[in-house]
Amino acid sequence: MSRHSWFANWVDRKMKYALTPEKFMSADRFASIGVGIGLPNIVQKSTFSFRNVKDGADRFLGVSKSGERPFARIYTRLGNPTTEYLEKALFQLDCQHIIDSALAADERKPTIATLVCSSGMSAIACTTMALVKSGDEIICGSVYGCTDSFFRTLEKFQVKTHFVDTTRVENVKNLLEQNPKIAMVFLETPDNPTLRLSDIEAIATLTQSHGVPLIVDNTFATPYLQQPFRLGADIVIQSLTKYVNGHSTSVAGVVIGPWEFMSEHLFHIYKDFGPTPSPFDSWLNAQGLQTLHLRVERASATAFDLASRLEKHERVERVYYPALPSHPDHELMKKQMRLGGGIIALELKDGYEPARRLMDYFAGYTTPGELAVSLGSAVTYFQHPASMTHSGVPEEDRLKRGITQGLVRISVGLEGVETMWNAIEEGLRQAYI
Ligand SMILES: Cc1ncc(COP(=O)(O)O)c(C=O)c1O
Repeated sequence: MSRHSWFANWVDRKMKYALTPEKFMSADRFASIGVGIGLPNIVQKSTFSFRNVKDGADRFLGVSKSGERPFARIYTRLGNPTTEYLEKALFQLDCQHIIDSALAADERKPTIATLVCSSGMSAIACTTMALVKSGDEIICGSVYGCTDSFFRTLEKFQVKTHFVDTTRVENVKNLLEQNPKIAMVFLETPDNPTLRLSDIEAIATLTQSHGVPLIVDNTFATPYLQQPFRLGADIVIQSLTKYVNGHSTSVAGVVIGPWEFMSEHLFHIYKDFGPTPSPFDSWLNAQGLQTLHLRVERASATAFDLASRLEKHERVERVYYPALPSHPDHELMKKQMRLGGGIIALELKDGYEPARRLMDYFAGYTTPGELAVSLGSAVTYFQHPASMTHSGVPEEDRLKRGITQGLVRISVGLEGVETMWNAIEEGLRQAYI
């Protein structure tokens, strides 16, 4: 018995249409959907004229007139045609197999829906608010600093979060068995910043048997490297700011989830809280989508090369990169990801001082890369999680998750691998002078 009215119906459809033996859409099809058939116009309008009073009233009832999504031609806070194009493309990348098998089974009701939001954080916040109420509890793995602090903020509304190591499935199992108040499980995999993986398939089996939705933040992997619906996830979130945009030119996020949850719960939060992206930002993200597969492939190849060389470097204590056989979750990576992705974390010998010097080296104008947070850009970014992205996580929890003072995160970009390796070698040399 679930705390969520929509859950049983969704599980029925998920079992029929979402789970597949193939873990990924073919690269060819992915590329074709991403490229599309031409970018949409930028519809820079806040409101849309109705044909007559009945047309306006119908649209407020959510009647979809000519294939557009319900509520999409009323007022941009509720939906906008440029954003709708992006929603459709993102939805296809993650869920085309669900659409195809539902149509083949002559399923009449929509199964799944998408909402693009003004940031990854607004996607996470709105989804959570649509799922929990005061008195509920949440299980959360190791996550991005602001996601972590958002869940801590919810305590003031009497929503308690259990932060657990979700790389150990038994931790999730024990909590679900002991605690009937759990209303959602939230995972990031690979997680931020140490690239540990959680087993989506195993955790989804558990959450499903307890009637609890599993939400996966797929920002690091993108649907090109990991397709959580095929593994049993119920709701998938991404910060589009990162790989989908690909050039650090806008902030946005997306939620994809069961139709009933999206239309009856999330949409109400979305329309009333107003986390609406600008049409121009949606257009930038639609443009980014056209090259997503190429950029993610290249960043993954470069990251693998750099991580392999870094692992052998005398000044490097430890490299975290899931495609390296030394990574604790390497076998799981081969099972649930297409490639290792573009992020590497690096523990230097002697802690903070050399780490600081290495990052300051990349802050210079004469070196490739930048000292900057965010990730998934054409430019390589170096940053210090303990004092930057994860500074809001209490120190004790940070250390448990391996976020030490000597840890540096690298978001590998699209520069030449030799140029970047030469710069890293020189940066490491200068860090230890
Ligand atoms: C894994 C992950 N999820 C969510 C977010 C939040 O996304 P945004 O910055 O678009 O709000 C980030 C941002 O760094 C992230 O790394």
